[in-house]
Parts: sequence; structure tokens; C-alpha cells
Amino acid sequence: MSKLRIAIMGCGRISASYAAAFRQLQETVQLICAVDIDILKAKAFAEPFGAAYGTCFEDLEKQQIDVLHLCLPHYLHAPMAVRAMQAGMHVLTEKPVAMTLQEADQMAKAAKQTGKKLGVIFQTRYEESVITLRRMIQEGAFGRILSARSFLTWNRPYSYYEGSDWKGTWEREGGGVLIDQAIHSIDRVRHMLGSEVEWIDGSIHNHCHDRLLVEDSAEAAIRFKNGCIYSLYACNSYADDVPIYLEFFGEKGRCGLRQDVGFYELDGKMHTIPVTTQTPDGASSATPSYWGESHPKQLLDFYTSVLSDTPVAVDVEEGRRTLEIIKGIYLSSLKRGRIYLPFEDVKYCGLNQIQTQTP
Ligand SMILES: NC(=O)c1ccc[n+]([C@@H]2O[C@H](COP(=O)([O-])OP(=O)(O)OC[C@H]3O[C@@H](n4cnc5c(N)ncnc54)[C@H](O)[C@@H]3O)[C@@H](O)[C@H]2O)c1
Repeated sequence: MSKLRIAIMGCGRISASYAAAFRQLQETVQLICAVDIDILKAKAFAEPFGAAYGTCFEDLEKQQIDVLHLCLPHYLHAPMAVRAMQAGMHVLTEKPVAMTLQEADQMAKAAKQTGKKLGVIFQTRYEESVITLRRMIQEGAFGRILSARSFLTWNRPYSYYEGSDWKGTWEREGGGVLIDQAIHSIDRVRHMLGSEVEWIDGSIHNHCHDRLLVEDSAEAAIRFKNGCIYSLYACNSYADDVPIYLEFFGEKGRCGLRQDVGFYELDGKMHTIPVTTQTPDGASSATPSYWGESHPKQLLDFYTSVLSDTPVAVDVEEGRRTLEIIKGIYLSSLKRGRIYLPFEDVKYCGLNQIQTQTP
């Protein structure tokens, strides 16, 4: 079978995880082109693979590309995904799917019209602990899940924001700690619980990042249709990136994650599910441990969907549902009250400040 011809757009921080994954999956894919507006970054990414490089979308169109990986600032996810699908490429974009629900809908429409596959990266779903605990929850091992909680306390100092023209801005990142860091916890709670949201009541704050306009902390109560109440706390002004904590409390027991290590308690006995994913050769020493090592698993899953023309596991609708929780917290904070789904999404220009009514 011939290899899929792939390309990457955006060769910034996260691209190290892709370089490692492409090396690991070289039996399945061949990197044809790397693109970044910073030509040096594109060159540095492409050269070890013997691939072409460029600075704009037109450089991609010169090649025949099967799959495009988008590793771009959030405001570019929707327009670039739509353009790439219209140019005949399947697209796997980094999280979040987009900055607004309307943008996600435009992406879904383009995927339908072009017949191209569209996926969203949530690599932490592919951790063994997540897969096992999700199955146990859904098989009823813990009885009815009454409550869930996620607790993220990470560190994003000014040095993280200073060198970036998009991070920490409402216009280009679309928010702060929720849309960037806590999104993986929120996605895992929804995915593992296997229920959809009924209402959201939350608030966002900027307690410590005086020079930024986006939120550095957030809390919410989120009720799922199965009755489970999810309590969320996130902040990125802690002294270090300590492990996230996620827990599901059921009638018969409880389970959860401490970063990627799973645990469950049944009949008074505690069990652990260790991290099994190996760091690929020469791979991720350059990437923070909290990104995990599961990008290759999700990439392979997406390539398999393309090659066998089967549905994408984490598709645009999945990405949209997780984004909807985040945007629901923003809206609840703005309205100071409970938000029932579905709701009309808006763009923000400051904490609890709307930019336009209809993005
Ligand atoms: N899945 C994860 O765990 C994880 C971790 C980190 C980042 N991310 C996501 O990856 C994406 C990129 O984040 P990052 O931290 O690598 O950001 P970054 O700023 O380090 O990299 C973005 C790159 O895009 C390039 N770029 C900007 N505009 C461009 C354009 N028009 N055409 C081509 N290139 C352009 C920039 O020059 C930069 O090199 C975001 O969506 C982010 O949320 C995901």
C-alpha cells in the first residue's frame, strides 16, 4: 500500500510531538511539506524528513497532499481547515476545533460538501487509563456516576505569553486557561462519562495575570443529562505544572486520573492503571510531559480512517461539543447565570465583554 502524503502547517511548540509521531509512523506516511510563516521553522522541521517547505498555503497546493495537520494559532483553525478541505485534503487540526461554535459548523459543512475527513486532536483520550476507565464507567462498574470533578493548577508565566502574537488574546486564542489548558480535562470528563451537557453555571476571572485580558482561572458546575454534576476548577497561575486531577464518583465506587495514571476504588480496594505508552525513540524529551505521548496513536487512528474510509473517532462534532462547554462557561460568566444548551455563541474581547453578537 502506498504511503499517505502528509503535510504540517505551523511548526511551533507542538510540532515536536508531530516530528516524533511522523518518525514513528513512517511505514504509513511520508512528510511531503512543512509550512510556517517563519521560514526557518518550516525548514528546520522539513529538512530531517527530506521534505519541501514553505511559508504559505500556496506552497502546499503545489504538492499533492492527502492529509494536512494544522498546528496553528486558534483563530486560523477554521479558515485553514475549510480552505484545505476545499483544496482536496483531509484535515486533522489541533484543539480547540475553532474559536466559536459557528466556525465549527462551517468546518462541518465544508467536510460534508467536500467529502473530506476532519478530525480534532484530543490525544489524551488515547491513554490506556482513559480507555479502560471509560469502559468501566460505561459498563456500570461504579454504578450511576453522581459527580465528577477536574482540578487543573498549572503555570503559564509571562515568558510563555511574551514571545507570542496570539496567546493570551481573545481575538486570536479565543480565551485563556479554559480554551487552551483545561480543554483536555473537560474533553475527558465528557468523553469518559458518555453523556451530554444539560446546563452550565460558571465564572471566569483574571486574578494574577495583570498584563493579559483572558481568564487565568475558572470554576463551574456542569450538569449532564444523566444527572451527574461536574465540578470544574482551573487556573494557570500556580507555581508549577502539577498533575491534573480528575475523578468520577459513583454509587458503587470511584475512579479517576492523576495526570495520565488511572486509579479506581471498588469494594474498599484501590487499583492503579499505570501509563503504558513508551516515549518513541529520540522523541519527546523536548516536549512537556503534560502533553503525554499519545499523539502517534491518534494520528494513526486518523490515517486508518482515511485509508479505510471509516468514520473519524474524534470528529468535528466531538470537538464542537467540548468547545460548547467552554463557551457555555464564558457565556454563563457574562450572563451571571445558568446556561442551558443549545445557546447562541458569541465572540469576546475581554473578560465578560462581547466583541460581536454574531461571529
Ligand atoms: N494537544 C496538545 O497537547 C497541545 C499542546 C500545545 C499546543 N497545542 C495546540 O497546537 C496549536 C499550536 O500551538 P503552539 O503552542 O505550537 O503554538 P506556537 O505559537 O508555538 O506555533 C504556531 C506556529 O504557527 C505559525 N503560524 C502562524 N500563522 C501562520 C500562518 N498563517 N501560516 C503558517 N504558519 C503560521 C507560527 O509562526 C508558529 O510557528 C494550538 O492549537 C494549540 O492549542 C496542543
